[in-house]
Amino acid sequence: MKKLLQSRNIPDFFARCADLASWEEYKEELKELFLTEEYGHLPKKLTPSIKAEEQGVNFAGKARWESVFFTFENNGKAHTVRAELILPKNKTKIPVFLYISFSGDVPNKYLPMEEILDNGFGVMTFDYQNVTSDDGDYSNGLYGLFSDNGQRCEFGKISLWSYMASICMDYLESRDEVDSDCVAVAGHSRLGKTAILTSILDNRFALTCSNESGCCGAAISRGKTDKNETIEDITRVFPWWFSEKYLKYVSNEDALPFDQHLLLAMVAPRPLMIGGAIEDVWADNEGQLLACKLASYAWSLYDKVGFVDSGSDTSIDGNVCFHIREGSHFMSRYDWNVYMKKFKQILGDKYEI
Ligand code: GCU
Repeated sequence: MKKLLQSRNIPDFFARCADLASWEEYKEELKELFLTEEYGHLPKKLTPSIKAEEQGVNFAGKARWESVFFTFENNGKAHTVRAELILPKNKTKIPVFLYISFSGDVPNKYLPMEEILDNGFGVMTFDYQNVTSDDGDYSNGLYGLFSDNGQRCEFGKISLWSYMASICMDYLESRDEVDSDCVAVAGHSRLGKTAILTSILDNRFALTCSNESGCCGAAISRGKTDKNETIEDITRVFPWWFSEKYLKYVSNEDALPFDQHLLLAMVAPRPLMIGGAIEDVWADNEGQLLACKLASYAWSLYDKVGFVDSGSDTSIDGNVCFHIREGSHFMSRYDWNVYMKKFKQILGDKYEI
């Protein structure tokens, strides 16, 4: 552990956690710290009115597809977010991936819907930009419901995308055919960052799949090379993702009161999956793997195994899984198959196709 910490000059934040009780206490402090310093606090939870509409398309008769419309009202304004729920037909207790998506289309280039269905899983998904746009406009979508005349709120947009994921989880809990104890939250890249935040704030998710989330996701922030994305890079191009307070760590990573492995650690004791791609140097694969190894300490406090090195590029035997595949930044069928393999492993005897 010491060597790993030294490799990136990371303070030993876990030093104060000799046992589970001290970790649980630290975890609450950390949650608050990450929200205050990095992502911003989620706004108050609104109760949306919900309308569901059956869709005709049903994947060769294998699935039922419903569009779900969540209408939120606040400050005299209203906004509707549309989500899609696709469940294998004639099944009960369905395990589901809640996939936070770059698109409202099903399937789409990152979402091989039919393959997922054929593996026995359902999918709930929404287009993140239908929640609020991915830019510096704070007046639209759900953000606009909380903002005063388009002014920035304390929270960044990653927090709001997480907010919507939890709303979807509420809906999944209301559906009899879904096994709400078996819902995974999944996302790619900026939405992989969102998936981790969602999971630490909402422990109803049984599995967390964060694909190539990199900087401010699964990768350690300290000790980057000049080919990796830094806090300076990310806040210059995407300042709206974060709390404004995060700017004080630009070129000042050593001042961070945490590093990203502690974000991962808060997922414990539930299983966590981190995916990388060899050519995705920007995301810092070494920093992601290092974070997995360091975070594993939290699982050990629950008497669970964290990261287990398989000696290959796919390590999914422990509760902290890491895989790296050939190629570039993408959420591919290969990645989905790794996530589904682990999900099946977790389901054990419960898994049926
Ligand atoms: C940019 C950004 C990354 C992010 C990625 C994505 O490359 O710098 O931090 O993960 O976009 O969301 O695709």
